[in-house]
Formats: sequence, C-alpha cells, structure tokens
Amino acid sequence: MMSSFINMDFLRRIFFEIWYFRNPPWDSGQTPPELLALLPGLTPARAIDLGCGTGTNVITLAKMGWQATGVDFSARAIQLARQKAQKAAVQADFFVGDVTDLRVTDKVYDFALDLGCFHGLPLRRRADYVRELKRILRPGGLWFLYSFLRSGLDESALGLAEADLGLLLADFSIVSRQDGFARGERPSAYFTFQKK
Ligand SMILES: C[S@@+](CC[C@H](N)C(=O)[O-])C[C@H]1O[C@@H](n2cnc3c(N)ncnc32)[C@H](O)[C@@H]1O
Repeated sequence: MMSSFINMDFLRRIFFEIWYFRNPPWDSGQTPPELLALLPGLTPARAIDLGCGTGTNVITLAKMGWQATGVDFSARAIQLARQKAQKAAVQADFFVGDVTDLRVTDKVYDFALDLGCFHGLPLRRRADYVRELKRILRPGGLWFLYSFLRSGLDESALGLAEADLGLLLADFSIVSRQDGFARGERPSAYFTFQKK
C-alpha cells in the first residue's frame, strides 16, 4: 500500500515536471486581480507562495516590497522562476520542496498564498499540507487560496469540498470568499483565511 502511495506522488511530480518543459495552461504569467486587490491593504512582510510554479506571484509580491519566497516540487518550475526574477531584477527566494513536508524551512511567514496547488493534492496529503501551513504561518497570518470546488461525493476530483473546509476551520477563520467559475465552467473560489 505504502509503495503505491509513493508511486502516485512520484507520478504527480513527473506530470508537473514534464508540463514545465512545455507551456502549462495555468501558467498565464498574470497575477489574478483578486490577489492584486488584496495586496494594497496589507503591510509588506514575509510571504511564501506554496506551489509557486514559475514564480509570477512571488515576483509581484517582491516588486511590492515583500520578502517573498516560492516553493514548488518541480525543479524545472523553480529554475524558470529564478530566471524570471533575475530578468525582472527583483530579489526573491525560491526553493524546490514539497508543500506537505516543509521541514527544510524553519522561517515563519506573515502571508501565505496558494493558487491552484492545495486543490490538486491527493486527499490523503491535505492534512499534511495544513499541518505544515500551520507551522510556518504566524498566528493572525493570512492565507490566500485559489481553489476549484468539488462535490464531497466525488473523491477522485480536483478541488475543495466541505470536508476540506471543515479540516481548515479548526485552525483558520474565513475572512473573505469570492465564488466564481474557472474558465467559465468549473466552480472555484478565492478565499482569504486567517490563522487563529
Ligand atoms: C496548477 S499549478 C499552479 C502554479 C502557480 N501557483 C500558478 O498560479 O501559476 C500547481 C503547482 O503546484 C505544484 N505542486 C503540486 N503539488 C506539489 C507539492 N506536493 N509540493 C510542491 N509543489 C506542488 C506544481 O508543480 C505546480 O507548479
């Protein structure tokens, strides 16, 4: 059983790694307006982008004065992110790591963001992500999340279900929620959570 878990995780990683040698459909190079609307109300401090891809949003934060870090388990994505930051002449940190096991960092962050990473994690990995998020985010810190939504009945689908929200609400309160449809069809939402 354990070895099939390991293989599934390995396959997910390879899937993303291969995508980053092409042009992944999610890698628009644009910071979403929902995040741009939130940032002016926050005081720049230390931020981390969980599943940062090629670093678009880390670079946006760094340009706005944040000490910004991005983590992704795709080495190719992190390589591209570093190149983009260098080209944009901004100071930002990137590291290759797994968001479900962030023991490589002992830093505490004021703001965490996740645009499309949490919702793709296998259900059995989500509690690990939340444990790590709780460890690295300071009390009162904000977590901005973009996620597809799924029916709780469909355990195979990408997305956040009411059961996931239940897991989160033990340690986070919802500051805001904006529902919509990804590419016009898939239910999705932008959330801002605050760590209790
Ligand atoms: C849909 S992409 C979104 C990327 C980026 N946030 C953006 O908006 O362009 C999901 C990202 O999460 C990363 N990812 C998925 N599972 C991960 C994990 N367990 N640890 C670290 N990164 C992960 C993938 O490599 C990919 O870059």
